[in-house]
Amino acid sequence: MCGIVGYVGPRVATPLLIDGLKRLEYRGYDSAGVAVMNGKGVDTRRAPGKIVKLEAMLNAEPLVGTLGIAHTRWATHGAPTELNAHPHTSTDKSIAVVHNGIIENATALKARLEASGYVFTSETDTEVLAHLIQEMYTGKLEDAVIRALEHVEGTYGIAVICSKEPDKIVAARKGSPLLIGLGENEYFVASDASAILSYTREVVYLDDGDLAVLDRNGYKILDMSATQLDKAVSRIDWDLGQIERGGYAHFMLKEIFEQPTTIENTMRGRLLPEDGTSKLGGLNLTDEELLFFDNIVITACGTSWHSALIGEHMFEELARIPVEVEYASEFRYRNPIVDERTLCIVMSQSGETADTLAAMREAKRRGARTLGIVNQVGSTIAREADGGIYIHAGPEIGVASTKAFTSQVVALALLTLKVGRLRDLSIMNGRRIVEALQALPGQIQSILDRADEIEQLAEEFKRAQNFLYLGRGYNFPAALEGALKLKEISYIHAEGYPAAEMKHGPIALIDEMMPVVCIAPHDSVFDKIVSNVQEVKARKGKVIAITSQAEPSLVGKIDYEFRIPQTIEMLSPILASVPLQLLAYYIAVKRGSNVDQPRNLAKSVTVE
Ligand code: M6R
Repeated sequence: MCGIVGYVGPRVATPLLIDGLKRLEYRGYDSAGVAVMNGKGVDTRRAPGKIVKLEAMLNAEPLVGTLGIAHTRWATHGAPTELNAHPHTSTDKSIAVVHNGIIENATALKARLEASGYVFTSETDTEVLAHLIQEMYTGKLEDAVIRALEHVEGTYGIAVICSKEPDKIVAARKGSPLLIGLGENEYFVASDASAILSYTREVVYLDDGDLAVLDRNGYKILDMSATQLDKAVSRIDWDLGQIERGGYAHFMLKEIFEQPTTIENTMRGRLLPEDGTSKLGGLNLTDEELLFFDNIVITACGTSWHSALIGEHMFEELARIPVEVEYASEFRYRNPIVDERTLCIVMSQSGETADTLAAMREAKRRGARTLGIVNQVGSTIAREADGGIYIHAGPEIGVASTKAFTSQVVALALLTLKVGRLRDLSIMNGRRIVEALQALPGQIQSILDRADEIEQLAEEFKRAQNFLYLGRGYNFPAALEGALKLKEISYIHAEGYPAAEMKHGPIALIDEMMPVVCIAPHDSVFDKIVSNVQEVKARKGKVIAITSQAEPSLVGKIDYEFRIPQTIEMLSPILASVPLQLLAYYIAVKRGSNVDQPRNLAKSVTVE
């Protein structure tokens, strides 16, 4: 959600902090701020709006110093104003704090601190941390932070500085990601590696309950009883180019166009064409163990939940194992039937979504074996799951997920192949699936080569107020995903529906103003969806059909058609999603939306 970056070293801190914030802006972008040790004490600048506003403020009133912390915010408590922007300072102005997460007992803590004379200036939950740390301070910042956090309920990734120890940053984590970057005689703290990738690739990931102390001579990691921990140093293996736009107008467009490559990367080294199966090194499960499970539960949020729904079809059809797909936010508070014979698959692009992480922990607590299907290497879900599949789609910066979705579906297909071949799937069918997977990158490229057709379609429909997306079978989740993409970035109301369900309610919405996207590739339910198209047409709806070949039965019943290549049914939602991503993108651009940073959203939802 929000982004944190901190620096201590020989260089002037502000430009590095601002550069880091810009790289984190996709995580939260309603206000931003910086605090630097200026030789006399803590000096802060904060501004509502995008980071350029903060930059303008800093140009007018520079902050000079070689140690500082910075933050880009996604508001939870209090509107995005200057006063609510981080860093927050203590009553005596000696302490500055930036925070991601939510302090759940902030109201009670605030009442107690106010009664003791501490003066609050914002509506945020974070501000209690600054006053609490001041209250606990007796000469050593890390001790004060530990004592303060003992009183805190909720989640946090924090970075704290103190004018009485001007060469030190203390960072701590519980439920909100944080890492330490190790440079040449300089150290960073960040909520996301992209913030510091220009300066170092060596990082130490903090776990919940860890506290880091950085100063000019080095760093140490402590637990909450101040005992020093020995943590591994990891190396980030992606490039700066992957988090830059590379000539595209938006990250989202770049990421849509990357899909032939990202899908290739998801499959690289994992297909065994001869045996009609896949090889997945990170599962940490033997074939015998894979056969032990009675059922699969897949838990996820948003777009990842849509890919999970496609996975459900795949596993049930080809591996003949019962699957339940659950919103992580619901799963975590239910009493789900999960035990040691359950394989719990956790889908998350970021690997940090708070609800998904909590659902995974709940499944583990109940004895299930957990498997993360994750994009972000080193993320919390990736590290805490018993095993997993990295989708290797590379950093996804656009808030609307595109390439991660298609790679997630490919990863699920690889796992289905593996489990299916161990159970019910014949070698011939396995080989057929492998061949179809291998054809996907070229097929996606052929769709992308016709992006201008979709752009024209977007011109036609850019003023629509509502959209309906219909699909059946494997393509019902594709309809949900198409609708989600459109609403996220264009703010047009859109709904995805199983095509046949339309007549049980949504049909009332259809008139000549309603565009209806019907996903109708040539598959086992094609004839059924033709009837649904007819129902729309009879009510004068405008039908945009996604088909895969010339269909005489659709002649005269559709208004617009976009053909995708023919593939096997289980992979058709991957191909169908690409024109839907492009449609959402072009409509949003034509309506003047900020495609990469749509209102109210954040890339990684690390609060409940
Ligand atoms: O990082 P995750 O895959 O766990 O994120 C889940 C959702 O927050 C995410 O997919 C969200 O729905 C995207 N904005 C979709 O474009």
